[in-house]
Amino acid sequence: MYAILCHPGHNRVYFEESKNFVLNELSIAAGRMSVKIQNIRLQNIAGIQYLIFEADEDLTAQDLKLLSQLSFIFALFKYDTHFFIPIELSAFGYVDQNISKILKYTGKTNEIFTRLLINIAVFSSDFSMTDTLKLLDPIAGKGTTLFEGLVCNYDVYGIEIGEKVVTEAYNFLKKFLEKEKYKHTVKLEKISGKNRLFTAHRYNITISKTKDAVKSKECREFEIISGNSFYANQLYKKNYFNFIVGDLPYGIQHSSVTNEKQSQFTRNPKELLISCLPVWKDLLIKNGIIVLSWNTFVLSRKELVKIFEDNGFDVFSGENYVFEHRVDQAINRDIIAAKKK
Ligand SMILES: C[S@@+](CC[C@H](N)C(=O)[O-])C[C@H]1O[C@@H](n2cnc3c(N)ncnc32)[C@H](O)[C@@H]1O
Repeated sequence: MYAILCHPGHNRVYFEESKNFVLNELSIAAGRMSVKIQNIRLQNIAGIQYLIFEADEDLTAQDLKLLSQLSFIFALFKYDTHFFIPIELSAFGYVDQNISKILKYTGKTNEIFTRLLINIAVFSSDFSMTDTLKLLDPIAGKGTTLFEGLVCNYDVYGIEIGEKVVTEAYNFLKKFLEKEKYKHTVKLEKISGKNRLFTAHRYNITISKTKDAVKSKECREFEIISGNSFYANQLYKKNYFNFIVGDLPYGIQHSSVTNEKQSQFTRNPKELLISCLPVWKDLLIKNGIIVLSWNTFVLSRKELVKIFEDNGFDVFSGENYVFEHRVDQAINRDIIAAKKK
């Protein structure tokens, strides 16, 4: 038997619901483990709650790597009714795991929740974990998904309509890489659409840990484009991404954000999805996975599922895909996960 101690910071606001998050995330991850695990459950031991599971055999190095990626994991033990044996988690993080915790701003998606979104996508997919996997956040904000994706060793790409936000995300990462002494090269580019329909700015950083990694091309890509996601198919090739992950606009104006340019389109998730989902789908490779969170107060799950199905996606359903939770008075958040047919 194994016991996982969950991160104490995981469940401040939606404490009760987050118990199900950890059960569901591990249950989805179980489908990708080499050892069969079962009887996943929460159990109180000496006043502390643990996530317990049984495994047919000892966990492999590959399984430990996968468990180390879980959004909530704090410590892992081999567990018998009489003793706990600590198991070292895999050294994890292409860049320091704290990268996405540093920036604080209104409208930021919680970084642990963001890791959960990424993991639902990755663990629901059939892609080999050893391939170079590409992740797009088409509504990237100041880049939490991109930073978390980079930590998980994916090539990450983002599109965000707010120009200032994009330069802030880019400048933040550049400074971070300089301070942490990563090798990196920067490419900046202005892009114009056909017939000058739109303009966008591409900020690309190729990152490697050492000089040797540069030579052997063991690099990661970070890219963020300031532009409208509606034109995503003029910014990226078709069938390019394994995953699309993002936190949709909540359909409310954040009280401290005074951005006159923020149109109804950028705030209303339904309008945004109806316009953009067909475009985003083209960018996903076959069997690619999309995972989005949204506010059910402005768009019901039923309506959202219909939009996805009408656009040629199979929506994941079943007890492991229940993540609805109350964030505050104006936001009741849920997660949708779907596979491109
Ligand atoms: C909930 S926020 C995402 C926050 C992000 N996960 C973070 O932690 O910084 C949704 C974002 O979608 C952006 N957005 C809305 N409509 C867009 C569009 N058409 N194209 C690109 N970005 C858009 C908004 O400007 C906003 O930053």
